[in-house]
Amino acid sequence: ATAQIGVTGLAVMGRNLARNLARNGFSVAVHNRSPERTRTLVAEHGDEGTFVPSESLADFVGSLERPRAVIVMVKAGAPTDAVIDELIPLLEEGDIVVDCGNAHFADTRRREEALRAQGLHFVGTGVSGGEEGALRGPSIMPGGSAESYQKLGPIFEKIAAQVEGESCCRHVGPDGAGHFVKMVHNGIEYADMQLIAEAYDLLRAGLSASPAEIAEIFREWNGGELESFLIEITAEVLGHTDAATGRAFVDVVLDQAEQKGTGRWTVQSALDLGIPITGIAEATFARSLSGHADQREAARRVFADAGEKWQVDDRDTFVEDVRRALLASKIVAYAQGFDHIRAGSREYDWNIDLGGTATIWRGGCIIRARFLDRIKEAYDGEPDLSTLLVAPWFAERVSAGVPAWRRVVADAARAGVPTPAFASSLAYFDALRAERLPAALIQGLRDNFGAHTYHRVDRDGSFHTLWAGDRSEVEG
Ligand code: 6PG
Repeated sequence: ATAQIGVTGLAVMGRNLARNLARNGFSVAVHNRSPERTRTLVAEHGDEGTFVPSESLADFVGSLERPRAVIVMVKAGAPTDAVIDELIPLLEEGDIVVDCGNAHFADTRRREEALRAQGLHFVGTGVSGGEEGALRGPSIMPGGSAESYQKLGPIFEKIAAQVEGESCCRHVGPDGAGHFVKMVHNGIEYADMQLIAEAYDLLRAGLSASPAEIAEIFREWNGGELESFLIEITAEVLGHTDAATGRAFVDVVLDQAEQKGTGRWTVQSALDLGIPITGIAEATFARSLSGHADQREAARRVFADAGEKWQVDDRDTFVEDVRRALLASKIVAYAQGFDHIRAGSREYDWNIDLGGTATIWRGGCIIRARFLDRIKEAYDGEPDLSTLLVAPWFAERVSAGVPAWRRVVADAARAGVPTPAFASSLAYFDALRAERLPAALIQGLRDNFGAHTYHRVDRDGSFHTLWAGDRSEVEG
Protein backbone atom coordinates (compact mmCIF):
# COMPACT_ATOMS: atom_id res chain seq x y z
CA ALA A 1 0.00 0.00 0.00
CA THR A 2 1.52 3.26 -1.13
CA ALA A 3 -1.16 5.90 -1.60
CA GLN A 4 -1.88 8.41 1.18
CA ILE A 5 -5.42 9.14 0.06
CA GLY A 6 -7.78 7.88 -2.66
CA VAL A 7 -10.42 9.37 -4.92
CA THR A 8 -13.19 7.27 -6.44
CA GLY A 9 -15.42 8.98 -8.99
CA LEU A 10 -13.34 10.79 -11.59
CA ALA A 11 -15.81 13.09 -13.29
CA VAL A 12 -14.52 16.64 -13.48
CA MET A 13 -14.67 17.48 -9.74
CA GLY A 14 -13.10 14.18 -8.67
CA ARG A 15 -10.43 14.37 -11.33
CA ASN A 16 -9.49 17.92 -10.38
CA LEU A 17 -9.40 17.11 -6.66
CA ALA A 18 -7.13 14.14 -7.39
CA ARG A 19 -4.84 16.34 -9.48
CA ASN A 20 -4.77 19.00 -6.76
CA LEU A 21 -3.75 16.33 -4.22
CA ALA A 22 -1.04 14.99 -6.51
CA ARG A 23 0.28 18.45 -7.33
CA ASN A 24 0.62 19.10 -3.61
CA GLY A 25 2.84 16.07 -3.19
CA PHE A 26 0.33 13.51 -1.92
CA SER A 27 0.28 10.09 -3.52
CA VAL A 28 -3.28 9.54 -4.73
CA ALA A 29 -5.05 6.28 -5.44
CA VAL A 30 -7.55 6.84 -8.25
CA HIS A 31 -10.53 4.78 -9.32
CA ASN A 32 -13.59 5.17 -11.49
CA ARG A 33 -16.42 2.77 -12.25
CA SER A 34 -15.56 2.83 -15.93
CA PRO A 35 -11.76 2.52 -16.10
CA GLU A 36 -11.29 4.72 -19.19
CA ARG A 37 -11.57 7.82 -17.03
CA THR A 38 -8.82 6.52 -14.73
CA ARG A 39 -6.59 5.77 -17.70
CA THR A 40 -7.22 9.18 -19.26
CA LEU A 41 -6.40 10.94 -15.99
CA VAL A 42 -3.09 9.12 -15.66
CA ALA A 43 -2.26 9.51 -19.37
CA GLU A 44 -2.99 13.24 -19.43
CA HIS A 45 -1.83 14.30 -15.98
CA GLY A 46 0.39 11.50 -14.70
CA ASP A 47 3.38 13.84 -14.70
CA GLU A 48 1.77 16.17 -12.14
CA GLY A 49 2.47 13.86 -9.20
CA THR A 50 2.04 10.32 -7.94
CA PHE A 51 -1.15 8.60 -9.05
CA VAL A 52 -1.83 4.98 -8.12
CA PRO A 53 -4.55 3.81 -10.54
CA SER A 54 -6.77 0.80 -9.95
CA GLU A 55 -9.49 -0.73 -12.09
CA SER A 56 -11.33 -2.51 -9.28
CA LEU A 57 -12.57 -1.02 -6.03
CA ALA A 58 -10.83 -3.83 -4.08
CA ASP A 59 -7.44 -3.01 -5.65
CA PHE A 60 -8.07 0.67 -5.06
CA VAL A 61 -8.74 0.08 -1.35
CA GLY A 62 -5.73 -2.24 -1.21
CA SER A 63 -3.46 0.48 -2.55
CA LEU A 64 -4.16 2.81 0.40
CA GLU A 65 -2.06 3.29 3.54
CA ARG A 66 -3.88 2.75 6.82
CA PRO A 67 -5.94 4.30 8.19
CA ARG A 68 -7.33 4.53 4.68
CA ALA A 69 -8.90 7.76 3.50
CA VAL A 70 -11.24 7.37 0.55
CA ILE A 71 -12.81 10.40 -1.08
CA VAL A 72 -16.11 9.58 -2.77
CA MET A 73 -16.90 12.06 -5.51
CA VAL A 74 -20.07 10.77 -7.14
CA LYS A 75 -23.58 12.19 -7.56
CA ALA A 76 -25.43 12.98 -4.32
CA GLY A 77 -28.19 10.60 -3.26
CA ALA A 78 -28.47 6.97 -4.36
CA PRO A 79 -25.13 6.81 -6.26
CA THR A 80 -23.29 7.89 -3.07
CA ASP A 81 -25.06 5.21 -1.01
CA ALA A 82 -24.23 2.60 -3.64
CA VAL A 83 -20.50 3.38 -3.54
CA ILE A 84 -20.45 3.46 0.27
CA ASP A 85 -22.18 0.05 0.41
CA GLU A 86 -19.56 -1.36 -1.92
CA LEU A 87 -16.72 0.15 0.08
CA ILE A 88 -17.76 -0.94 3.57
CA PRO A 89 -16.85 -4.65 3.28
CA LEU A 90 -13.44 -3.71 1.88
CA LEU A 91 -12.52 -1.35 4.74
CA GLU A 92 -11.16 -1.97 8.22
CA GLU A 93 -11.71 -0.34 11.58
CA GLY A 94 -10.53 3.26 11.72
CA ASP A 95 -10.69 3.80 7.96
CA ILE A 96 -12.26 7.02 6.71
CA VAL A 97 -14.83 7.55 3.97
CA VAL A 98 -15.05 11.17 2.79
CA ASP A 99 -18.07 12.37 0.82
CA CYS A 100 -17.11 15.55 -1.04
CA GLY A 101 -20.38 15.83 -2.98
CA ASN A 102 -23.22 18.26 -2.23
CA ALA A 103 -25.04 15.83 0.08
CA HIS A 104 -27.95 16.83 2.29
CA PHE A 105 -26.68 17.08 5.88
CA ALA A 106 -29.44 14.75 7.08
CA ASP A 107 -28.14 12.04 4.72
CA THR A 108 -24.65 12.70 6.03
CA ARG A 109 -25.84 12.30 9.63
CA ARG A 110 -27.49 9.00 8.72
CA ARG A 111 -24.41 7.70 6.91
CA GLU A 112 -22.07 8.85 9.67
CA GLU A 113 -24.11 6.97 12.25
CA ALA A 114 -24.22 3.81 10.15
CA LEU A 115 -20.48 3.80 9.47
CA ARG A 116 -19.61 4.69 13.06
CA ALA A 117 -21.52 1.58 14.16
CA GLN A 118 -19.11 -0.40 12.00
CA GLY A 119 -15.99 1.25 13.38
CA LEU A 120 -15.51 3.50 10.36
CA HIS A 121 -15.34 7.28 10.09
CA PHE A 122 -17.64 9.06 7.69
CA VAL A 123 -16.71 12.62 6.83
CA GLY A 124 -19.29 14.68 4.95
CA THR A 125 -17.24 17.46 3.41
CA GLY A 126 -18.44 20.58 1.69
CA VAL A 127 -16.26 21.63 -1.23
CA SER A 128 -16.82 24.92 -2.97
CA GLY A 129 -15.19 26.62 -5.90
CA GLY A 130 -16.35 24.67 -8.91
CA GLU A 131 -13.94 22.89 -11.23
CA GLU A 132 -11.24 25.53 -11.05
CA GLY A 133 -11.40 25.62 -7.28
CA ALA A 134 -11.11 21.84 -7.00
CA LEU A 135 -7.93 22.01 -9.06
CA ARG A 136 -6.28 25.16 -7.76
CA GLY A 137 -7.54 25.42 -4.20
CA PRO A 138 -11.15 25.12 -3.07
CA SER A 139 -12.78 26.09 0.17
CA ILE A 140 -13.15 22.87 2.17
CA MET A 141 -15.67 22.28 4.96
CA PRO A 142 -15.13 18.87 6.57
CA GLY A 143 -17.51 17.47 9.17
CA GLY A 144 -17.04 14.14 10.92
CA SER A 145 -15.03 13.08 13.96
CA ALA A 146 -12.07 14.99 15.38
CA GLU A 147 -10.08 11.77 15.03
CA SER A 148 -10.65 11.59 11.28
CA TYR A 149 -9.48 15.18 10.99
CA GLN A 150 -6.07 14.23 12.40
CA LYS A 151 -5.45 12.34 9.18
CA LEU A 152 -7.42 14.56 6.79
CA GLY A 153 -6.60 17.99 8.23
CA PRO A 154 -2.98 18.26 7.07
CA ILE A 155 -3.94 17.05 3.58
CA PHE A 156 -7.04 19.19 3.11
CA GLU A 157 -5.50 22.29 4.65
CA LYS A 158 -2.68 22.05 2.14
CA ILE A 159 -4.80 21.61 -0.99
CA ALA A 160 -7.36 24.30 0.00
CA ALA A 161 -7.14 27.94 -1.04
CA GLN A 162 -4.81 30.01 1.13
CA VAL A 163 -5.59 33.58 2.18
CA GLU A 164 -2.91 35.60 3.97
CA GLY A 165 -1.16 32.43 5.03
CA GLU A 166 -4.35 30.85 6.40
CA SER A 167 -5.93 27.79 4.87
CA CYS A 168 -9.55 27.92 3.72
CA CYS A 169 -10.16 24.57 5.40
CA ARG A 170 -11.00 23.85 9.02
CA HIS A 171 -12.75 21.10 10.86
CA VAL A 172 -16.31 22.42 11.02
CA GLY A 173 -17.80 20.01 13.56
CA PRO A 174 -19.11 16.46 13.99
CA ASP A 175 -21.22 14.38 11.58
CA GLY A 176 -23.29 16.61 9.22
CA ALA A 177 -21.76 19.96 10.26
CA GLY A 178 -19.61 20.30 7.13
CA HIS A 179 -22.41 19.63 4.71
CA PHE A 180 -24.74 21.90 6.69
CA VAL A 181 -22.29 24.78 6.41
CA LYS A 182 -21.85 24.07 2.68
CA MET A 183 -25.63 24.09 2.28
CA VAL A 184 -25.89 27.52 3.90
CA HIS A 185 -22.96 28.68 1.77
CA ASN A 186 -25.04 27.79 -1.26
CA GLY A 187 -28.09 29.55 0.19
CA ILE A 188 -26.01 32.71 0.58
CA GLU A 189 -24.73 32.14 -2.95
CA TYR A 190 -28.35 32.19 -4.18
CA ALA A 191 -29.10 35.41 -2.26
CA ASP A 192 -25.91 37.08 -3.42
CA MET A 193 -26.64 36.23 -7.06
CA GLN A 194 -30.25 37.38 -6.84
CA LEU A 195 -29.16 40.70 -5.30
CA ILE A 196 -26.57 41.17 -8.03
CA ALA A 197 -29.18 40.35 -10.66
CA GLU A 198 -31.61 42.87 -9.17
CA ALA A 199 -28.89 45.54 -9.04
CA TYR A 200 -28.19 44.90 -12.73
CA ASP A 201 -31.91 45.09 -13.54
CA LEU A 202 -32.28 48.36 -11.61
CA LEU A 203 -29.32 49.92 -13.40
CA ARG A 204 -30.65 48.77 -16.71
CA ALA A 205 -34.14 50.12 -16.09
CA GLY A 206 -33.10 53.32 -14.31
CA LEU A 207 -30.29 54.34 -16.63
CA SER A 208 -31.40 52.67 -19.85
CA ALA A 209 -27.80 51.45 -19.84
CA SER A 210 -26.42 48.61 -21.97
CA PRO A 211 -25.07 45.41 -20.37
CA ALA A 212 -21.56 46.50 -21.38
CA GLU A 213 -21.99 49.82 -19.58
CA ILE A 214 -23.30 48.03 -16.51
CA ALA A 215 -20.33 45.64 -16.67
CA GLU A 216 -18.15 48.72 -16.24
CA ILE A 217 -20.08 49.75 -13.12
CA PHE A 218 -19.62 46.28 -11.59
CA ARG A 219 -15.92 46.40 -12.46
CA GLU A 220 -15.65 49.64 -10.53
CA TRP A 221 -17.61 48.26 -7.59
CA ASN A 222 -15.23 45.35 -7.47
CA GLY A 223 -12.49 47.77 -6.49
CA GLY A 224 -14.29 48.65 -3.24
CA GLU A 225 -16.20 47.15 -0.32
CA LEU A 226 -18.22 44.91 -2.64
CA GLU A 227 -15.10 43.19 -3.99
CA SER A 228 -15.95 39.54 -4.47
CA PHE A 229 -15.75 36.69 -6.93
CA LEU A 230 -19.43 37.02 -7.91
CA ILE A 231 -19.16 40.76 -8.61
CA GLU A 232 -16.03 40.09 -10.66
CA ILE A 233 -17.67 37.44 -12.84
CA THR A 234 -20.80 39.59 -13.17
CA ALA A 235 -18.65 42.16 -14.98
CA GLU A 236 -17.28 39.37 -17.16
CA VAL A 237 -20.68 37.91 -18.05
CA LEU A 238 -22.32 41.31 -18.67
CA GLY A 239 -19.41 42.39 -20.84
CA HIS A 240 -19.59 39.28 -23.02
CA THR A 241 -20.97 39.48 -26.56
CA ASP A 242 -22.74 36.53 -28.18
CA ALA A 243 -20.67 35.49 -31.19
CA ALA A 244 -23.62 34.14 -33.18
CA THR A 245 -25.80 37.26 -33.00
CA GLY A 246 -23.47 40.06 -31.96
CA ARG A 247 -25.90 40.87 -29.15
CA ALA A 248 -25.10 41.12 -25.47
CA PHE A 249 -24.75 37.55 -24.19
CA VAL A 250 -27.13 38.22 -21.28
CA ASP A 251 -29.85 39.14 -23.80
CA VAL A 252 -29.73 35.83 -25.64
CA VAL A 253 -29.90 33.64 -22.49
CA LEU A 254 -33.37 32.37 -21.58
CA ASP A 255 -34.47 34.19 -18.41
CA GLN A 256 -35.40 31.11 -16.37
CA ALA A 257 -33.00 30.33 -13.51
CA GLU A 258 -32.41 26.70 -12.66
CA GLN A 259 -31.24 25.04 -9.46
CA LYS A 260 -29.94 21.73 -8.28
CA GLY A 261 -31.57 22.06 -4.88
CA THR A 262 -29.13 23.26 -2.25
CA GLY A 263 -30.93 26.62 -1.98
CA ARG A 264 -34.20 24.80 -1.47
CA TRP A 265 -32.62 22.63 1.25
CA THR A 266 -31.37 25.76 3.00
CA VAL A 267 -34.84 27.29 3.08
CA GLN A 268 -36.44 24.03 4.21
CA SER A 269 -33.95 23.69 7.05
CA ALA A 270 -34.41 27.32 8.09
CA LEU A 271 -38.17 26.80 8.27
CA ASP A 272 -37.59 23.80 10.52
CA LEU A 273 -35.25 25.76 12.76
CA GLY A 274 -37.42 28.90 12.76
CA ILE A 275 -34.72 31.17 11.35
CA PRO A 276 -35.95 33.94 9.03
CA ILE A 277 -33.51 33.71 6.13
CA THR A 278 -35.78 35.91 4.05
CA GLY A 279 -33.13 36.97 1.52
CA ILE A 280 -32.19 33.38 0.69
CA ALA A 281 -35.86 32.39 0.54
CA GLU A 282 -36.73 35.24 -1.82
CA ALA A 283 -33.78 34.35 -4.01
CA THR A 284 -34.86 30.71 -4.17
CA PHE A 285 -38.47 31.63 -4.95
CA ALA A 286 -37.33 34.18 -7.54
CA ARG A 287 -35.64 31.32 -9.42
CA SER A 288 -38.85 29.27 -9.24
CA LEU A 289 -40.95 32.21 -10.40
CA SER A 290 -38.69 32.80 -13.38
CA GLY A 291 -39.31 29.23 -14.48
CA HIS A 292 -43.11 29.53 -14.54
CA ALA A 293 -43.19 30.62 -18.16
CA ASP A 294 -46.93 30.03 -18.65
CA GLN A 295 -47.97 32.17 -15.72
CA ARG A 296 -45.54 34.88 -16.73
CA GLU A 297 -46.95 34.88 -20.24
CA ALA A 298 -50.54 35.03 -18.97
CA ALA A 299 -49.78 37.88 -16.56
CA ARG A 300 -47.79 39.79 -19.18
CA ARG A 301 -50.78 39.77 -21.50
CA VAL A 302 -53.17 41.12 -18.89
CA PHE A 303 -50.90 43.56 -17.05
CA ALA A 304 -48.65 45.07 -19.68
CA ASP A 305 -46.99 48.39 -18.74
CA ALA A 306 -48.08 48.47 -15.11
CA GLY A 307 -45.29 50.79 -13.93
CA GLU A 308 -44.46 54.46 -14.32
CA LYS A 309 -41.74 55.52 -16.72
CA TRP A 310 -38.46 55.59 -14.80
CA GLN A 311 -36.57 58.83 -15.04
CA VAL A 312 -33.26 58.94 -13.20
CA ASP A 313 -32.05 62.54 -12.97
CA ASP A 314 -28.59 62.08 -11.56
CA ARG A 315 -26.73 59.07 -12.89
CA ASP A 316 -23.90 59.03 -10.35
CA THR A 317 -26.20 59.40 -7.36
CA PHE A 318 -28.39 56.58 -8.61
CA VAL A 319 -25.44 54.24 -9.21
CA GLU A 320 -24.16 54.99 -5.70
CA ASP A 321 -27.67 54.39 -4.28
CA VAL A 322 -27.84 50.98 -5.92
CA ARG A 323 -24.35 50.14 -4.64
CA ARG A 324 -25.28 51.07 -1.08
CA ALA A 325 -28.57 49.19 -1.27
CA LEU A 326 -26.75 46.16 -2.64
CA LEU A 327 -24.19 46.24 0.15
CA ALA A 328 -26.86 46.63 2.85
CA SER A 329 -28.98 43.81 1.39
CA LYS A 330 -25.91 41.62 1.09
CA ILE A 331 -25.08 42.22 4.75
CA VAL A 332 -28.63 41.09 5.60
CA ALA A 333 -28.17 37.88 3.57
CA TYR A 334 -24.91 37.01 5.33
CA ALA A 335 -26.33 37.94 8.74
CA GLN A 336 -29.23 35.58 8.11
CA GLY A 337 -26.95 32.81 6.86
CA PHE A 338 -24.75 33.02 9.94
CA ASP A 339 -27.87 33.01 12.17
CA HIS A 340 -28.92 29.84 10.39
CA ILE A 341 -25.54 28.19 11.00
CA ARG A 342 -25.67 29.12 14.67
CA ALA A 343 -29.17 27.65 14.99
CA GLY A 344 -28.14 24.43 13.23
CA SER A 345 -25.08 24.18 15.43
CA ARG A 346 -27.22 24.49 18.56
CA GLU A 347 -29.86 22.08 17.33
CA TYR A 348 -27.40 19.34 16.40
CA ASP A 349 -24.70 20.07 19.01
CA TRP A 350 -22.00 20.87 16.50
CA ASN A 351 -20.27 23.72 18.30
CA ILE A 352 -19.50 25.49 15.00
CA ASP A 353 -17.15 28.45 15.24
CA LEU A 354 -18.75 31.27 13.21
CA GLY A 355 -15.53 33.26 12.86
CA GLY A 356 -13.85 30.06 11.66
CA THR A 357 -16.59 29.56 9.08
CA ALA A 358 -15.96 33.05 7.71
CA THR A 359 -12.26 32.16 7.56
CA ILE A 360 -12.96 29.11 5.38
CA TRP A 361 -15.05 31.23 3.01
CA ARG A 362 -12.44 33.96 2.50
CA GLY A 363 -10.94 32.13 -0.45
CA GLY A 364 -11.66 29.35 -2.91
CA CYS A 365 -15.45 29.34 -2.66
CA ILE A 366 -18.11 30.98 -4.83
CA ILE A 367 -19.10 33.53 -2.18
CA ARG A 368 -15.53 34.59 -1.40
CA ALA A 369 -15.58 38.31 -0.75
CA ARG A 370 -13.45 40.96 0.82
CA PHE A 371 -15.94 41.60 3.60
CA LEU A 372 -15.64 38.07 4.96
CA ASP A 373 -12.55 39.41 6.77
CA ARG A 374 -14.93 41.73 8.60
CA ILE A 375 -17.36 38.91 9.37
CA LYS A 376 -14.50 36.89 10.80
CA GLU A 377 -13.42 39.84 12.96
CA ALA A 378 -16.99 40.40 14.12
CA TYR A 379 -17.58 36.81 15.29
CA ASP A 380 -14.03 36.28 16.57
CA GLY A 381 -14.42 39.43 18.65
CA GLU A 382 -17.89 38.51 19.91
CA PRO A 383 -18.89 34.88 19.36
CA ASP A 384 -22.33 35.54 20.87
CA LEU A 385 -23.05 38.50 18.62
CA SER A 386 -26.86 38.63 18.37
CA THR A 387 -26.83 39.59 14.68
CA LEU A 388 -24.09 40.59 12.29
CA LEU A 389 -26.12 43.73 11.50
CA VAL A 390 -25.15 45.30 14.82
CA ALA A 391 -21.40 44.63 14.60
CA PRO A 392 -19.83 48.10 14.22
CA TRP A 393 -18.42 47.78 10.68
CA PHE A 394 -21.70 46.36 9.35
CA ALA A 395 -23.95 48.67 11.40
CA GLU A 396 -22.11 51.66 9.90
CA ARG A 397 -22.61 50.45 6.32
CA VAL A 398 -26.25 49.60 6.91
CA SER A 399 -27.01 52.94 8.62
CA ALA A 400 -25.21 54.87 5.91
CA GLY A 401 -27.09 52.90 3.27
CA VAL A 402 -30.63 53.18 4.63
CA PRO A 403 -31.76 56.33 2.76
CA ALA A 404 -30.37 54.94 -0.52
CA TRP A 405 -31.95 51.56 0.17
CA ARG A 406 -35.37 53.16 0.68
CA ARG A 407 -35.06 55.32 -2.44
CA VAL A 408 -34.04 52.38 -4.62
CA VAL A 409 -36.79 50.05 -3.39
CA ALA A 410 -39.46 52.78 -3.58
CA ASP A 411 -38.41 53.93 -7.07
CA ALA A 412 -38.33 50.33 -8.29
CA ALA A 413 -41.83 49.71 -6.92
CA ARG A 414 -43.14 52.83 -8.66
CA ALA A 415 -41.54 51.78 -11.93
CA GLY A 416 -42.77 48.20 -11.65
CA VAL A 417 -39.28 46.66 -11.52
CA PRO A 418 -39.32 43.60 -9.25
CA THR A 419 -36.75 43.66 -6.43
CA PRO A 420 -37.84 40.80 -4.17
CA ALA A 421 -34.48 40.39 -2.44
CA PHE A 422 -33.70 44.12 -2.06
CA ALA A 423 -37.21 44.82 -0.77
CA SER A 424 -37.44 41.88 1.60
CA SER A 425 -33.97 42.61 3.02
CA LEU A 426 -35.07 46.16 3.74
CA ALA A 427 -38.30 44.89 5.32
CA TYR A 428 -36.26 42.46 7.46
CA PHE A 429 -34.07 45.32 8.65
CA ASP A 430 -37.09 47.51 9.42
CA ALA A 431 -38.81 44.68 11.26
CA LEU A 432 -35.72 43.95 13.38
CA ARG A 433 -35.29 47.56 14.42
CA ALA A 434 -39.01 48.32 14.96
CA GLU A 435 -40.11 49.39 18.42
CA ARG A 436 -43.37 47.41 18.14
CA LEU A 437 -44.41 44.80 15.59
CA PRO A 438 -47.96 43.98 14.54
CA ALA A 439 -47.26 40.47 15.81
CA ALA A 440 -49.29 41.64 18.81
CA LEU A 441 -52.39 41.74 16.62
CA ILE A 442 -51.65 38.27 15.29
CA GLN A 443 -51.52 36.99 18.87
CA GLY A 444 -54.87 38.67 19.52
CA LEU A 445 -56.44 37.05 16.47
CA ARG A 446 -55.07 33.63 17.40
CA ASP A 447 -56.54 34.01 20.85
CA ASN A 448 -59.87 35.16 19.40
CA PHE A 449 -60.49 32.29 17.02
CA GLY A 450 -58.56 29.51 18.72
CA ALA A 451 -58.00 30.42 22.39
CA HIS A 452 -54.28 30.14 21.68
CA THR A 453 -53.44 32.60 24.51
CA TYR A 454 -51.01 35.52 24.58
CA HIS A 455 -48.43 37.11 26.84
CA ARG A 456 -48.76 40.65 28.16
CA VAL A 457 -46.20 43.43 28.15
CA ASP A 458 -46.90 44.28 31.78
CA ARG A 459 -47.25 40.94 33.59
CA ASP A 460 -45.77 37.42 33.41
CA GLY A 461 -47.94 34.43 32.52
CA SER A 462 -50.18 33.53 29.61
CA PHE A 463 -53.66 34.86 29.19
CA HIS A 464 -56.87 34.34 27.29
CA THR A 465 -59.73 36.75 26.71
CA LEU A 466 -63.25 35.27 26.84
CA TRP A 467 -64.12 36.64 23.40
CA ALA A 468 -67.48 34.89 23.13
CA GLY A 469 -68.41 35.75 26.71
CA ASP A 470 -68.01 38.90 28.76
CA ARG A 471 -64.50 39.59 27.33
CA SER A 472 -62.90 39.34 30.69
CA GLU A 473 -59.34 38.00 30.85
CA VAL A 474 -58.41 34.70 32.42
CA GLU A 475 -55.06 33.01 32.91
CA GLY A 476 -54.45 30.67 29.99
C1 6PG B 1 -19.91 25.78 -5.18
C2 6PG B 1 -21.29 25.78 -5.80
C3 6PG B 1 -21.65 24.42 -6.33
C4 6PG B 1 -23.08 24.28 -6.84
C5 6PG B 1 -23.46 25.12 -7.98
C6 6PG B 1 -24.84 24.82 -8.53
O1 6PG B 1 -19.85 26.15 -4.02
O2 6PG B 1 -18.93 25.45 -5.84
O3 6PG B 1 -22.22 26.12 -4.84
O4 6PG B 1 -21.50 23.53 -5.27
O5 6PG B 1 -23.23 22.98 -7.29
O6 6PG B 1 -23.29 26.46 -7.73
O7 6PG B 1 -25.88 25.20 -7.73
P1 6PG B 1 -27.35 25.40 -8.33
O8 6PG B 1 -27.46 24.52 -9.54
O9 6PG B 1 -28.29 24.97 -7.27
O10 6PG B 1 -27.43 26.83 -8.70
